[in-house]
Order: sequence, then C-alpha cells, then structure tokens
Amino acid sequence: MIERRVSHSEDDTAAIGADLARALGPGRVVLLYGQLGAGKTAFVRGFAEGRGIPSDEVSSPTFTLIQEYGGGAVYHVDLYRLTPEEVDDLGLEELPERGGVVCIEWADRLPRPLRGAVSVRISDGGGDRRELQITDDARSAMDAEPDYSDR
Ligand SMILES: Nc1ncnc2c1ncn2[C@@H]1O[C@H](COP(=O)(O)OP(=O)(O)OP(=O)(O)O)[C@@H](O)[C@H]1O
Ligand SMILES: [Mg+2]
Repeated sequence: MIERRVSHSEDDTAAIGADLARALGPGRVVLLYGQLGAGKTAFVRGFAEGRGIPSDEVSSPTFTLIQEYGGGAVYHVDLYRLTPEEVDDLGLEELPERGGVVCIEWADRLPRPLRGAVSVRISDGGGDRRELQITDDARSAMDAEPDYSDR
C-alpha cells in the first residue's frame, strides 16, 4: 500500500495522522521520516487524537526518551539526539508487544528495521505545502515475494 497525501497546513498533516490512526490495528509501528520542521510531531499529534488521546498530551519527546499517551495506547519516540547505543538501549522491539502503537520520529536513526512498520515520509513542498508518502512496509514486503503459484 502506498498512499500519497498533500497537506497545506499543520492541521491537514494532523488530520492525515488521524486517518492513519483509525486504519491501524494494535502493535504497529509508525516510522516518521522528514527534515526538521517537516511536521512529524504534528502528524503524531493528529495520530494520537485519532486514537482518542487529547492533543495536549502530545509534545516533542525531548527530555523523556519514550513518551506514553493514553495509558500506553500510543508511544512517541524521537531519535534525533540519540547515539546508536542509546537507540539500542530503548528496547523499541518490545514496545509493540504491549499492544499500543509506537510512533518514531527520525526513524532513519534506527539501526535495524522494526516489524509491523508503516513508513510515513514527509517532504517539504515549499511554504506550508507538505507531501506525505505512506507505505505499509509489511504489505510491500509481501508484494515483493516471488509468486510460485503457477509452477
Ligand atoms: N503542512 C504542514 N504540516 C505540518 N506542519 C506545518 C505545515 N505547514 C507549516 N507547518 C509548520 O511546520 C512546523 C512543523 O513542526 P513539527 O514540530 O511538527 O516538525 P517535526 O518534523 O516534528 O520537526 P523536528 O524534526 O524538529 O522534530 C510547525 O511550526 C508547523 O506550524
Ligand atoms: Mg518533532
């Protein structure tokens, strides 16, 4: 599944996040890619709202490495300032097993891919325009499987 969405405002980006939140089952991971100010946190704010969490609970995870919203319904992680060792120590693999959804900003800092991930790539289209590309990594891995059905 590849979905492309265009956003013209911070609220648009949040609304796209909320749409994804309503479509995802438990135990999934959302990997967010995009430069400083792309709108990753705005997306997570909308995502949390889409899962019933008040948006004022959501902030950039600066001092807390892993923020937990809605009693573990959503975990929010920002890898920007972390060294690879610190990222390793977070134990991110275990978080989805608790049944919440894990949103990870600066996912390009991950040393290994995570299972059950959806990737959200946000690029700056100039001014307030942002282009979002949403890929279900599990689904695309399956799509890439060779088809032996006619052999
Ligand atoms: N279409 C848009 N979508 C999201 N944010 C937008 C948009 N247009 C303008 N903005 C502005 O861009 C900024 C996005 O900030 P945000 O904290 O969400 O980015 P970020 O990707 O999380 O950055 P960082 O890498 O620092 O964590 C906000 O100031 C917001 O008002
Ligand atoms: Mg951010």
